[in-house]
Amino acid sequence: MGVSRGGFSSRFGFIMAAAGSAVGLGNIWGFPTQTASNGGAAFVLVYLVLAFCLAYPAFMAELLIGRYGQANAVSSMQKIARNTGQKRFGFVVGFGGIICAALILSFYSIIAGWMMSYAIEPLARLAGFTGEADWLINHSLTRNIIFTALFMGLTIFIIRRGVEEGIEKWSKRLMPMLIGLLILLIIYVFTLDGSREGFNAYLNPDISRVFEPDLLISALGQAFFSLSLGTSVMIIYGSYIAKKENLVTLGAQVTLIDVSIAFLAGLLIIPAMYVAQAQGVAIFAEDGSLISGSNLVFTVLPALFSGMGKVGLFVAFGFFVLMSIAALTSSISMLEGPVSFVVERHDTPREKATTLIGLAILVLSILIVINLDWMLDFVATLSTQYGQPIIAMLCCVFAGWIWHRSDVLSEIKQGNIDVEHSLFWKVWPWYTKFICPTAIGLVFWHSL
Ligand code: TRP
Repeated sequence: MGVSRGGFSSRFGFIMAAAGSAVGLGNIWGFPTQTASNGGAAFVLVYLVLAFCLAYPAFMAELLIGRYGQANAVSSMQKIARNTGQKRFGFVVGFGGIICAALILSFYSIIAGWMMSYAIEPLARLAGFTGEADWLINHSLTRNIIFTALFMGLTIFIIRRGVEEGIEKWSKRLMPMLIGLLILLIIYVFTLDGSREGFNAYLNPDISRVFEPDLLISALGQAFFSLSLGTSVMIIYGSYIAKKENLVTLGAQVTLIDVSIAFLAGLLIIPAMYVAQAQGVAIFAEDGSLISGSNLVFTVLPALFSGMGKVGLFVAFGFFVLMSIAALTSSISMLEGPVSFVVERHDTPREKATTLIGLAILVLSILIVINLDWMLDFVATLSTQYGQPIIAMLCCVFAGWIWHRSDVLSEIKQGNIDVEHSLFWKVWPWYTKFICPTAIGLVFWHSL
C-alpha cells in the first residue's frame, strides 16, 4: 500500500492544499462578521493569539498523527494505539472525524451552490437574460438542488483525480486566484465613500473587551473551525507530506496564511458594509448589532453591488467567484477524508469510491435542501459545534496521552533534526497534553 499511495509532490503544493482546506466560507464570511459583533480589533487580537497558541498545537497533533501513520485517519490512529482498547478508541476518533467531514460537506455544498448561482447571476444579467438572472438569485427548490449537485460534481471531479493531479494541482491554481481576487476587491472598496468608517470599526480595538469570556470562546471556536480541526482532514493531509519536510514550520505557515486571509477578508467585508450603509442599505439589525449570517452575504452585499450600476455586476461576479473558490478548496478536503478511508481499508479504486461517496453525500444534501428550514441548522450544529470540538479534543488526548513521547519526537525529528532543543519541543508536548484538551473542553461546555 505504501508505494501506491499518493502524496504532495512539493512543499508549495501541500501549503496550498492545507491552506485551501482551512480558508473557506468560515474565513471570508464567518470571521469578519464575528469580528464586527465582538468589538472589532479586540476580537482580531484575541483570535490571533488563540490561533497560534491553541489551534496551531492541535493542528500539529493532527498533522503528526497522519504523517506518522502514512494512512487514512482510522489506520493512522490505530497505528499509534498499543492495545485493543486504544485501537477501539482510535477507531472511534478517526471514524468520527470522517463522518464529521461528510456531514460538513453535506451542508457546505448547499451554501457553496448558492455562491455559484450568485456568481453566474451577473453574467446572465449582462447577457440580457433577466428572467434567468432572477431565477438564479431566488431561493427555489429546483435551483438549490441543481447548484448543490453542480458543486458536488466539481468536488467529485477533482477528488477522482487523486492527491497530486487533483487536490494539489487545483489548490495551486485556485488559491493564488483567491488571494489575487481578494486584494483587488479590497482595493476597489477602499476607493468608495463610507469605507473609512468601516476600517475604523474593524481596526480600532475596544481593549476592554479582550477578556470577555464570550469573546474568547467565539474566537477559539472560530479558530478551530477555520483550521478544519477534528474532521480527519488534517490527518489525511499530513499523511501525504514527505518525511523530509519540516512539519513544525509547514504547520506554522498554513496557520499564518489562514489567519492572514481571515484578516484580509475582514478588510473587505466590514468596510463594504459601511459603504452599503452610505448608500442607504440597512446594515444594523434591530438589536443594534451588525447584520451577519446569510442576510449579510445574500442581502446586504447584493444591495451594495446593485447600487453600483454596471460596475456592480463585475464586482458581484468577482466576490461570488471568490466565495465559490474558497468553498471548493475546502470541500475537496472534506471529501478526501471518507474517500481515503474507503480506498485504503476496503481496497476500492479511487474513482469508484469518490463517485459513490460523493453521490451518497449528495443524497443527504438534497434531503437537507428539501427540509431546509430545520435540517440545515441541525446538521451544521451537530457537526461543527459538537463533532469538531469533541474529535479535535480526542486527537489531542491521543497525541498527548497515548502516543509515546519518544515516538512523537522521532516523528517530528524527520525533516527537523534539531527540534529537540527548540522552543516548540519544550512547549508543545505539554500543551497538547493539558492545555489544548482543557481549552477545547471549556469552549465546548460553554457552547452548550
Ligand atoms: N475551514 C473551513 C472554513 O473556514 C471550514 C471547515 C470546517 C472545513 N471543517 C472543515 C473544511 C473540514 C474542510 C474540512 O470555511
